[in-house]
Order: sequence, then C-alpha cells, then structure tokens
Amino acid sequence: MSNPSSDHYYANDDWDVDSWVDVIAVEYETLVRDFPFDRVLRSLPGFGSLRVLDVGCGTAIFPGYLDAVLPPDVGLIADLWDISGSSLRRAREVMSQLAHFSVDRTYQALIEDLPTKLPAETDRYDVIWAMHSFTTVSVEPMGAVYARLLETLRPGGYLFVYQLTSESYYQKFHGLYRREHPHGRNRAPFMEFEDSRRILESLGVEYEVYPQRFTHEIARNRDDLLEKYLRKVILDDTVDVGQLFRPLLESLYDPVGDRYVIPQAVNLITVCK
Ligand SMILES: C[S@@+](CC[C@H](N)C(=O)[O-])C[C@H]1O[C@@H](n2cnc3c(N)ncnc32)[C@H](O)[C@@H]1O
Repeated sequence: MSNPSSDHYYANDDWDVDSWVDVIAVEYETLVRDFPFDRVLRSLPGFGSLRVLDVGCGTAIFPGYLDAVLPPDVGLIADLWDISGSSLRRAREVMSQLAHFSVDRTYQALIEDLPTKLPAETDRYDVIWAMHSFTTVSVEPMGAVYARLLETLRPGGYLFVYQLTSESYYQKFHGLYRREHPHGRNRAPFMEFEDSRRILESLGVEYEVYPQRFTHEIARNRDDLLEKYLRKVILDDTVDVGQLFRPLLESLYDPVGDRYVIPQAVNLITVCK
C-alpha cells in the first residue's frame, strides 16, 4: 500500500492552489495566533541567524504566515526537504521574498530516507519543523526519522510537528475513500498525530501538544471548489467526490449560511531538546 507524495499531487495546476489555500488558511492563521513562535524563536541563542530544517516544505505556506508575526531582529536560514522538485523551487522563491528568511541547502528526497540522506551532522539546527508533511509517509520508518531529527537538533532547540489527528475530517474523508472507493483500497492510511505520539513515547521524548480546532467553510454554490477541496484531501483527482461523500457532506451542511462547515482537528507537537 502506498500514498502519493509526488509532484503530480502537490504541484499540479489543476488543483487550483489559490482557492485551496483560501479554504485552509485558517489552519495557519490559528496556529501563528495561538502559539508564541515569536517569543520562542527570540529566546534561542543566536536568534538573528537561526538554522532551520523545513521538512516537507511544500510551497512554503507556513513560513509566509510565520514571517508576518516575527520581530524584526529574528533571522532564519532554512534548509528545505521535499520529494517534489517543483515545490522546492517554489519554496525557495517564496522564502527569498520574506523578510526573515533565506534559503541555504535543498534536499529532494523522501522524508522516510532522512536518516540515511541527511548529512551526518549533529547539533546543526536550532529549529526543525514538519508542518502538515507527516501525512503521506510510511509510518514504519518514522521512529528512525524522529530520532534522526532530534539528533541533528541543537540542545535547547525546538522541533515543531503540525499534524492532523484521528478526529479530523481529513481522516474521515480519507477513511471513507479507502473503504468505499476502488482506488482507495490499495492506499495506505494517512499518518496522524496519534502515530507521532506513540513514536515519541517509545523514544522516551518529552513533548507538548497544542490542539488546534477550526472549520473549513465552502459555500454550497461553489461545487467546483468543493470538488477540488475533496480531491485534494484524498489526493486523488479522478474520483467523483460528490457521489462518494454525499451522505457525509449532507451532515456538514449549514442551512443558515448555505455552506458546508467541515471541522478539522490538527495538533501542534513541540519538543524542546
Ligand atoms: C501539505 S504540503 C506541506 C506544506 C508546507 N509544509 C507548509 O506548511 O507550508 C506536504 C508536502 O510534503 C511533501 N511530502 C509528502 N509526503 C512526502 C514524503 N513521503 N517524502 C517527502 N516529501 C513528502 C509533499 O511533496 C508536499 O510538498
């Protein structure tokens, strides 16, 4: 069983990325409002030029939101890791326009291969984050991935993982797709927060959890957007999502606002080494 993590799913123009970002922007707005990234980063020694590893950087949506809340004297030099070459290129472009970021190295590789492919340096990073990128990974090697990330983090540095939970509608949609659609049957489940928690406990690592709860909202007359949203949630652009998800969608319909209101539950995990 496998999950897509290729350019096709993350860099395909058909996904209409801007509309998707409008729907999910709340995830990042809530996060940078509720967690004091500004204070935490400023408390680190050398906060003017902190070394960051962005794991599964995508197109650098999170850095855009973070940039807006950082104090002027915080600087971040980021190494980027992603399987998608086009995402790495886009993330470099986006970050070079941000006030607090510059980009150093890029690694085009699977997250699962990080233990062997990340250069064997310890204490290299002040901060490591994986924001919504521990989803389409195989869970089995992730213990070694966490161990390697913690090894390359400086003492006193922070690891941030933002990850969907088992209660999220990401999982409900994907679970239904796996159970009821022929394409879904050979797909692996999405990795979720509960997997990370189990791994961190087995490694004996102390961590904190900041639960984020919000809704994605899509007007009923935006069928096109709803379809793109659902296809992106399940990472399959060939499915008749309207038909597959109709009963679930009806339960999410808000007649007052004439829209679908989709609850999401995503947790921020923080580890201070
Ligand atoms: C939802 S996007 C991440 C968004 C980004 N971290 C942000 O918050 O702005 C997920 C990213 O993880 C990458 N990805 C997914 N599975 C991967 C894997 N197994 N190995 C490497 N990269 C992966 C995808 O290519 C994609 O760019």
